[in-house]
Amino acid sequence: MDEIEAEAERLHSALGKLGWSKSACEAYAPLTLEIIRLKKEKNAAILAHSYQTPDIIFGVADFTGDSYGLSVQASRSNADVLVFSGVKFMAETAKILNPKKRVFIPSLEAGCSLADDISAEDVRALRRMHPGAPVVCYVNTSAEVKAESDVCCTSSNAEKIISSFPQDEIIFIPDGFMAQNLAIKTGKRIIGWKARCVVHQSVDKKKVMAIKRHFPGIKVLAHSECPPEVAQEADLVGGTTDMEKFVLSSPHSRFLLLTECGLSDRLRAKAEGKEFVGLCSLCPYMKKNSLAAILRILQNLPKENEIILPEPVAAKAKRALDRMFELS
Ligand code: 13P
Ligand code: SF4
Repeated sequence: MDEIEAEAERLHSALGKLGWSKSACEAYAPLTLEIIRLKKEKNAAILAHSYQTPDIIFGVADFTGDSYGLSVQASRSNADVLVFSGVKFMAETAKILNPKKRVFIPSLEAGCSLADDISAEDVRALRRMHPGAPVVCYVNTSAEVKAESDVCCTSSNAEKIISSFPQDEIIFIPDGFMAQNLAIKTGKRIIGWKARCVVHQSVDKKKVMAIKRHFPGIKVLAHSECPPEVAQEADLVGGTTDMEKFVLSSPHSRFLLLTECGLSDRLRAKAEGKEFVGLCSLCPYMKKNSLAAILRILQNLPKENEIILPEPVAAKAKRALDRMFELS
């Protein structure tokens, strides 16, 4: 068997479960082989968020997971170069935690509607309006916003971090729906912000109810960025890793994942025998990445795709991330 054929076999063993044909895998094999070769040559690692397409996740990624887990993996990696196939705030977080490594993002358009909707000045204004209230920032924020915050959190540890504060009034930025969900869960008075995730904001409660009626016993897992009326209908509200753990350890076989489609794709390949009922949408930012864009990064290490942060901002943002690690 030649190298291309062997690579096509490897790809097909995962992608075949998602309906990819053998000939499609053969067509992709030269591209994945070249990326794998360049990774070795440049001592690079590819981190891929669970919302990335299956060709990236199963074809070339060294680590996959949520934004928190990926950053932890990044700090443990011996690679000199990290290619973060995700969105900009995730690549920035990896850079803050790994200042000596070179961190690249394949697409310059991979932003996030949450992170793009709040500035450092907005955080300073919130502090002036609510003196004494600690600022908890979701990881979906820029390095500048993290630098103005007391502590960072992710979807999987937000409840624990907010509950750890003695204060009753907490500023939580930037996701307004997540702030409302956290107020319900923690009983705290949460001062939120107006930002919304373009994927989760439009999950429709009526459709969720209709699916629950059609498939009695289905387990509904909602991302914390969903509207509270949707979260109330779910068996679990949390981040993508919480959802993955729930599915993999559950005796149930049918699930409705209220999040980006990439997660169901990943779990469809990973959790054989489990069924995922479709009601997902694509994140237009996450889907800007591609194998071709990753190849270009590894070939040229282009300056414009490298994450560079001013040292004082990175140092202050790191304090908020370190505090998160202490508290979670
Ligand atoms: P997770 O950290 O739960 O993977 O979420 C990231 C994200 O962007 C959710 O939309
Ligand atoms: Fe941002 Fe939502 Fe896309 Fe996640 S899914 S990167 S929160 S826009």
